[in-house]
Amino acid sequence: MPRAKVTIPYLFDKKAKKEPITMLTCYDYPMALLEEKAEIDIILCGDSLGMTVYGYNGTLPVTMDMMIVHAAAVTRGAPTAFVIGDMPFLSYQVSKEEAVRNAGRFMQEAGTDAVKLEGGAIMAETVKAIVNAGIPVMGHIGLTPQSISALGGFKAQGRSAEAAYRLIKDAEALEAAGAFSILLEAIPPEISAIITEKARIPIISIGAGLPCDGQLLIVHDMLGFFDRFTPKFVKKYADLNGQIFQAMLQYKEEVHQQAFPGKEHTYGMPAEEMEKLHKML
Ligand code: KIV
Repeated sequence: MPRAKVTIPYLFDKKAKKEPITMLTCYDYPMALLEEKAEIDIILCGDSLGMTVYGYNGTLPVTMDMMIVHAAAVTRGAPTAFVIGDMPFLSYQVSKEEAVRNAGRFMQEAGTDAVKLEGGAIMAETVKAIVNAGIPVMGHIGLTPQSISALGGFKAQGRSAEAAYRLIKDAEALEAAGAFSILLEAIPPEISAIITEKARIPIISIGAGLPCDGQLLIVHDMLGFFDRFTPKFVKKYADLNGQIFQAMLQYKEEVHQQAFPGKEHTYGMPAEEMEKLHKML
């Protein structure tokens, strides 16, 4: 029997019961089918697809139109997971009106259950506007890839008392603005523990350690399907690149050796039809 649809009350219930929430990124239909089958709670169609799928150096070139196409494929493959559309660069920073319209596009055109955006207190009014339109918002603080230039690179955040204090205040501002959850990226677990303890909403970690209410990994990282660089917080559960590459080499070899296709991979011609054909020729 398929599980019931994952909802926000279900996620809050998991926090209350201290049952860890599982979350993975996903960008396409085949992977969504597998994440659905594995009963992952939350699926993020992340703008990290700019790097993992499109080969850019960062997430800034990703547009709303790209995100909608991918998010729609994900919701088709994962009907019971809670699917979040990641708002790309410039889709929510220019004005609250544009932010609401673009968040609405995720819900209306891609069928997502919520959206995620980067930024703390400075984004509180934007979060409020989107939430007021009936769209659930996940906040994202710490290492925020859309601000990579301002942050000076992909590095851990909140490692001084002042920076940690700002993160704690950012989390409070997002919760007060109505965010249903917050993602903490690349911050020390000591700071995640304070934020998770204070918050009534589920706090999810990507590189923020065990104290959070749930964990997120980028699916291409955890499957060993992206090896341009690997952040410290990634654990590789498979070596897809290695396996796919070996399969390709074996295919190439078998084509060269004429070991593929075998008889079992070809269509038979009935003998009497073949005889008839020879007479026709
Ligand atoms: O786009 C994404 O996958 C993300 C993660 C890096 C958290 O936002």
